[in-house]
Order: sequence, then C-alpha cells, then structure tokens
Amino acid sequence: NTINTMDFTLTEEQLMIQQAARDFAQQELLPGVIERDEEQKFPADQVKMMGELGFLGMMVDPNYGGSGLDTLSYVLVMEELSKVDASASVIVSVNNSLVCWGLETYGTEEQKQKYLTRLATGEIIGAFCLSEPEAGSDATSQKTTAIDKGDHYLLNGTKNWITNGGTADVYLVMAQTDAAKKHKGINALIVEKGMEGFEIGPKENKLGIRGSDTHSLNFNDVKVPKENRIGEDGFGFKFAMKTLAGGRIGIAAQALGIAAGAYELARKYSKERKAFGTEIMNHQAIAFKLADMHTQIDAARMLVYKAAVDKDQNRNYDLSGAMAKLYASQVAMDTTVEAVQIHGGNGFVKDYHVERLMRDAKITQIYEGTSEIQKIVISRSILKD
Ligand code: CAA
Ligand code: FAD
Repeated sequence: NTINTMDFTLTEEQLMIQQAARDFAQQELLPGVIERDEEQKFPADQVKMMGELGFLGMMVDPNYGGSGLDTLSYVLVMEELSKVDASASVIVSVNNSLVCWGLETYGTEEQKQKYLTRLATGEIIGAFCLSEPEAGSDATSQKTTAIDKGDHYLLNGTKNWITNGGTADVYLVMAQTDAAKKHKGINALIVEKGMEGFEIGPKENKLGIRGSDTHSLNFNDVKVPKENRIGEDGFGFKFAMKTLAGGRIGIAAQALGIAAGAYELARKYSKERKAFGTEIMNHQAIAFKLADMHTQIDAARMLVYKAAVDKDQNRNYDLSGAMAKLYASQVAMDTTVEAVQIHGGNGFVKDYHVERLMRDAKITQIYEGTSEIQKIVISRSILKD
C-alpha cells in the first residue's frame, strides 16, 4: 500500500462545476426540500434540470451524451448537492456510478447506443438491482434466476430496496444462471420497464432520503434478450463488485456533503443564537463541537478526494473508496447529531433542516455496503500478502 501524495488544487473547470452545483442546490433543491421529505415526493423537476446541467452522466464520454468530466468533478457535485438534498444526490450517484459507469465500461456498442446515450443526458434514469430479501451484504447468495433459453434469459425473482425503483426506465439486474458455479454463475442483465412479467412493488416509507424512490421489484418469467447481458456469461458478480467500488466513492461524497451541510448550518446558528447574554459560539462547549466537526469533515474530504483521484489516475480504488465511505459516513452521522444539539429545540423541528440531514446521514452507513462490509473490504485489502 503506497501512500500517494497529491495536490487537491481544483482547476478552473472544477471550481466552475462546483459553483454550478452549489447554485443549483440553493436555487432549485432548497425550496421545497422539507415538503418533498415530508410527502416522500420524488424530485422529478429537479432531476430533469440536473440532466440538462450534465449532472446525470458526468463521467460519460461526450460521444455518448455525457459531460466527459473526471471523478473529482463528480465528487464535488455530489458534495454540493448533498449539503442540501441527499434524496436528489442519491439519484445522481446511482445514475452516474452504478448505471452509466457500468454500461460505459462493460457494455457493448449496441447497448451504449441504445441505453447509455439516453441515461447520460437524463432523458431516462437507471437503477442498479443487486439486493434481495435474502442477499444484502451476502450478495453472492442471489436467489433471482436467469435461466438460459438460447436467445433469451427467463428472469424470475425479487429484488428489494431498489433506488429509482419506480421512476427508472432501465434496470441493471444481477441474477443467478448457474447456481453450481456460485458467484461465477451470476449474470448482469439490462431489463426495461414495461417488459412483460416485470412488476414494481410498493414504495418504501423510509427514515431518511424520503424524496428518493425505493421499491422492491418482482420478475415473473420476464424474457430478457441475450443481447441485454453485460459482459461474458458469468461476469455479473464481478460487474457488480467493480461497479460498486466506484459507487462507494459517490456515496462517500454524499456523506461528506451531508456532514458539511449540517456543519455550515450549525456554525451559522451558533453565531446568531444567544444564551446567557452571549452568542452560543462563545460557550466553549459549542466552539469545541464545531472544531471537532470541522476537523473530521476536512479529514473525510481528504479521503474522498483521494479515492476520486485514485480512480482518475487509474490506481486501484477498492481500498481508498471503502475507507472514504466508512469514514465519511461516520462523520456524517456524528456531525449531524451534534448539529441538532447545537440547534437545541430548533434542531428537533423540520424548519431548521438539521433533523433531516441527521435522518439522511444514516443511510450512508447502510447502502452500497454497510460499514461492517467496508471493514471487510478494507481488512482483506490491508491483510493480503
Ligand atoms: N473487484 C473485482 N472483483 C471483486 C471485488 C472487486 N472490488 N470484490 C470481490 N470481487 C470478486 C472476488 O475476487 C471473487 O471472485 P473470484 O472468486 O473470481 O476471485 C468474487 O468477487 C467473490 O468475492 P468474495 O469471495 O470476496 O465474496 P464474499 O461472499 O466474501 O463477499 C463482499 C464479498 C465484499 C462482502 C460482497 O459480497 C459485498 O460487497 N457485499 C455488499 C453488497 C453491496 O455493497 N450491496 C450494495 C447494493 S447497491 C446499493 O446499495 C445502491 C444504493 O443503495 C444506492
Ligand atoms: P444484512 O446483510 O442483513 O445486514 C444486517 C446487519 O448485519 C448489518 O449491520 C450488516 O453490516 C451486518 N452484517 C452482515 N454480514 C456481516 C458480516 N459478514 N460481518 C459483519 N457484519 C455483517 N440495493 C441495491 O441493490 N440497489 C439499490 O439501489 C439499493 N438502494 C437502497 C436504498 C435504500 C434506502 C436502502 C435502505 C437500501 C438500498 N439497497 C440497494 C440495499 C442495500 O445495499 C442493503 O440494504 C445493504 O447492502 C445491506 O443489506 P441488508 O439490508 O440485507 O442487511
């Protein structure tokens, strides 16, 4: 494990993209964010605008309709959006990291022309379907089957917790073709909304990221053409793991943004709210909380940017991405809890935003591999050889 020194000085282009995301978050995500959370309303108008801004296919080659940017730019956008609305940012993360990246890296030219070009512009959005009722962390235990029928696969089974589950048009679905081969028998298939036998289950009523649309999916004898398989026969589990390695950088950036958003609100509040004849920032207990938050957020940011730069510079990012997600999600949890505390009673009501950030923070420790799974990935990596 070499230590790479790196320069995080942002280029003019990266600063512009960061500013565009910051402005978009303030102007378009902030208004209505409390209502969308309360009503579990999918941010459809905002997703359309993010497509127009190029946020939904950020790293995709412009020849396929993408913005052709680097991972660091993507992380900057994720951070800014997540400061305000993590429900919107998870849509961005799934579409970019799990769907577009997977298709661009491993898809055939036909698949890219047919699906990626529309996903990258946000004309349609995608979903990534690995988890099942009995296969979450233990992802190799896929029970969904894709039986080889010559020119097509016959897909049967259930996926759950699928982000963009109701709103997506294209679903990348992992399924077991040959159980005897264990994870080497899993395939990744492109399934379209509307294919016969594909049913979308009810929407989950969640603790956080309530504007995001999470559903279970049922497949009953869905005929998926062979040309919709991604990669060689049996590549599906590797496909999922490789894709998730990058996805974890996006979720780490989401966690960083949630933490930074809560910190900014708490810092501002501490300068305004008075108790015992002075602004509460003058009470050292409050100032020290802010000092801890700032330190931890900066440390998280270094890990997140490093993972992004590892990916951009073609270094292995399994380890740095897992470390970034593990740490940033813990910082998101700790920071948001303290931000509520600094707001006192106001922190407990919806108008001040920090209670929502606290609820949203929790998911970053669960999806795209729980914190315990990140520790498995990290420990295996540092202990091998
Ligand atoms: N890159 C390439 N291949 C990888 C890999 C990686 N990063 N990680 C594992 N693999 C390969 C292994 O090499 C192995 O293949 P070989 O036998 O050919 O060597 C195969 O995958 C199986 O690996 P393991 O033996 O390590 O499998 P395991 O059963 O011990 O599980 C695990 C490994 C890391 C725990 C994995 O199951 C895992 O990541 N679980 C968490 C699942 C997850 O993250 N789900 C997220 C769903 S998507 C989501 O959540 C989206 C959202 O919310 C927005
Ligand atoms: P389990 O695997 O049952 O884990 C339960 C507990 O046991 C956890 O604390 C876990 O860390 C721990 N544990 C399990 N195994 C071990 C071990 N070996 N060592 C130590 N501890 C262990 N999935 C998708 O495929 N696509 C999506 O778009 C998607 N979006 C999601 C959105 C939301 C809002 C949610 C809640 C989930 C989403 N997921 C998605 C699923 C998510 O990835 C899983 O919930 C997650 O991977 C954990 O799986 P599980 O829920 O089955 O928990």
